[in-house]
Amino acid sequence: MIISIITVFPELYEQFLNTSLIKRAQEKRIISFNLVKLSDLCQPKERIDEPVCGPGTGMIIKPNLIDKAIEACEKQYGPGYKIFFSPQGEKLSQKLLQKKAQLFLKEQSSHDSQTNSQDHLVLVCSRYEGIDERVTTFYADETISIGDYILMGGDLPAQVFLEGFLRLIPDVVGKEASIEDESFSGPLLDYPEYGLPKVWNNLEIPEIVLSGNHAAIDQWRRDQACKKTVLERFDWFRSSEPSQEIIQNCAKSIPPHYVAIMHTDIVIKGDRVGHSSVTSLDLHDTARSCATYGIKNMFMVSPLKDQQSIMRDLLDFWMSDEGKSYNLSRHTAVSHVVPTDSLAQTIEFIEKREGKKPLVITTSAKQHDHPKVIDYFSQKTVWKQGRPVLFIFGTGQGLADHIIDKSDLLLVPIKGLTGYKHLSVRSAIAIILDRWLGLNPKKK
Ligand SMILES: C[S@@+](CC[C@H](N)C(=O)[O-])C[C@H]1O[C@@H](n2cnc3c(N)ncnc32)[C@H](O)[C@@H]1O
Repeated sequence: MIISIITVFPELYEQFLNTSLIKRAQEKRIISFNLVKLSDLCQPKERIDEPVCGPGTGMIIKPNLIDKAIEACEKQYGPGYKIFFSPQGEKLSQKLLQKKAQLFLKEQSSHDSQTNSQDHLVLVCSRYEGIDERVTTFYADETISIGDYILMGGDLPAQVFLEGFLRLIPDVVGKEASIEDESFSGPLLDYPEYGLPKVWNNLEIPEIVLSGNHAAIDQWRRDQACKKTVLERFDWFRSSEPSQEIIQNCAKSIPPHYVAIMHTDIVIKGDRVGHSSVTSLDLHDTARSCATYGIKNMFMVSPLKDQQSIMRDLLDFWMSDEGKSYNLSRHTAVSHVVPTDSLAQTIEFIEKREGKKPLVITTSAKQHDHPKVIDYFSQKTVWKQGRPVLFIFGTGQGLADHIIDKSDLLLVPIKGLTGYKHLSVRSAIAIILDRWLGLNPKKK
């Protein structure tokens, strides 16, 4: 395979291409490189860049130089697959690397045999303000970003890409196994690895790793990989289509979650703090959302005797044989609903069951002054505390200030594209549970 690299600074590649595995891959004739220096294609005294058109400052590389560079490479090595680098491109990932590597693998499975394999890769590395938009549109087979930050040029992105891409090309990396079990090759991050000495800085290698019991070590590694993935990179886990077995193992590292719907300590019309009525729809709709996302119990909180009696009637129906045969899945969901008469009683219930006080997270459609506001990406911070989690939702016009003020954490409001924010409590619960615990696999 030939890799052409079009760049302003070929000297940046000298050591990179002549070190370790990449050097050896060239010696083994698996790959060879063709470095094209843009200034070599200029006429005497011609600059490689032009000021950007329109208001503003900055320079971009001249389109005709990229033309010349690509033409020269393709004349020598045949049509190339052209990758441009830009912070606006598709974010580099293991999946993207695998897809690109597939294009270059000659021996493809029969199922893939339609795909043409390539043997000339052209990397176009820009500098300054980037590349004329028309050039990218015209030439780029792929535009890749290595992350949401701005570098001075495309040479480090090209090297990052090459490090990831080349190790997927057979024989570049020694043992195939060393690339198969790694983070991002499946839904899990890699398990923790240790080497001698047995004790380092007073820290010991876990006993099981040295036990010699391979089955037990494998199981321990799987468990540790699950724990690490969930606690460090839930975003990766939820997007990666894990199997049911992996989900179950990973769920063990997520602390138990509870939901309380407050029919007391809420704001009612006229900005007073008061009570609201329970509804049958809230009860079974929310119970179904809670069942979907693995909520251990859903509490309906009201100290009013008449409301408690309505709740009991509703629950009695769903727990009865009649309710069960009317709709079994609803019966299952509702069996986790617990009526309580106050938030304090709810917290006590959880503490008794879990042996730890729950971390109380309030929710609101409005902004509040709260010392600890979290967002929908804060699972790691919350879960690492190792305490059960209680999400509290208000009915009426939302939770009273004193409930929000006393909570450990406040979740940012849900927002759509408009200013409208009057969601029903059952919609808000479903949205929040999905943002917090939902799987959202990426199909690409
Ligand atoms: C200063 S940057 C241009 C940034 C551009 N004006 C923008 O805001 O999107 C110059 C060049 O560096 C490379 N580059 C910078 N950051 C990058 C990133 N995160 N991923 C890939 N390439 C990057 C690209 O080749 C880019 O054209």
